Amino acid sequence: VNVEGRHHRTVWLEGSDLCLIDQRLLPYRFEVLRAADHRATAEAIADMTVRGAGAIGAAGGFGMAQGVLEAPEDAFEAYVADAAARLRATRPTAQNLFYAIDRVLAAITPPASVGDFAGARVAAVQEAQHIADQDAEACRRIGEHGAMLVPDGARVSTHCNAGWLAFVDWGSALSPVYAAIRQGKAVFVWVDETRPRSQGSKLTAWELVQEGVPHRVLCDGASASYMARGEVDMVIVGSDRIAANGDVANKIGTYPAALAAREAGIPFYVAAPTSTIDPDCPSGDAIPIEERDPDEVLYVWGRDDDGRLTRVRIAPAPSGARNPAFDVTPAKLVRGIITEFGVVSATPEGIARALSARDAAWHRR
Ligand code: MRU
Repeated sequence: VNVEGRHHRTVWLEGSDLCLIDQRLLPYRFEVLRAADHRATAEAIADMTVRGAGAIGAAGGFGMAQGVLEAPEDAFEAYVADAAARLRATRPTAQNLFYAIDRVLAAITPPASVGDFAGARVAAVQEAQHIADQDAEACRRIGEHGAMLVPDGARVSTHCNAGWLAFVDWGSALSPVYAAIRQGKAVFVWVDETRPRSQGSKLTAWELVQEGVPHRVLCDGASASYMARGEVDMVIVGSDRIAANGDVANKIGTYPAALAAREAGIPFYVAAPTSTIDPDCPSGDAIPIEERDPDEVLYVWGRDDDGRLTRVRIAPAPSGARNPAFDVTPAKLVRGIITEFGVVSATPEGIARALSARDAAWHRR
């Protein structure tokens, strides 16, 4: 979408370099980082230069293609397997990462198995590009389906950043907001700050400024009382992994938002492309939850009055912390899942319906 009026994707390939909007620097500076090989791409995923399930997935697919481009012919298979393992080890929760790596590996298998390395390289780049294009198109369609649920004048609450920065384009939770506004509806967004890394105040608020969408940032502890006193009409969040029974993993703090929405009688929607569904994960209990560096909780980053990015400690020196990056919202708290194929229920039947729509679309490909 637009940055100061210019269209951008979050990730794109130029030759064999992966270009990434450096999300660690926002909202202070807009810079594009070039990752020259799959190792640099893996590092950019792990250090959250690129973050958000869809953007991680697209970067993982391109990183896998970089690995295939780099692989020497006399050790092709071993090099590609090593690159896949390195990329898989970056962030454990976002299903889109594993989906994209597996797709690129599947695309190169027929040419590579007969020694056609040039064919494998072409297939890897094409498949990675296709994954990125499909991500953008899926999010655009999530916007179309989701906008029907957003009434004129709606006050939408969201958690973390599930906007276009979290995908290749458009976003998941914010795509219905953008689509509704393009349809002429008035929409206001409550943005949860989303500690510890503040993706809400740093990224979602920045995105909404770029898009000219009215919004206010709330500290995480405030959103339940705003829901309770009737200042929120609906909640839409994204997801990093959806289990086969409809349980949903998303940024830590999503589960309390869902509980507060249930208590206040507000619909709680999850917006996600079908690439986020993990059919091999029977329930939320089986979703791997990333535990990150405790320093992210014990310190905050910001810009001081002289414009320098600075880290300050906000807990006493001897205190430690726990830092789970995600939580699981049980399916029973989810009103519906907005996918690129329409809104499905957060039930085994709804999830199966979304997956069979995806299979049918694949067969038409
Ligand atoms: O740790 P992050 O910033 O990668 O987590 C992002 C989120 O939790 C988003 O809400 C999620 O990816 C869903 S939308 C892509």
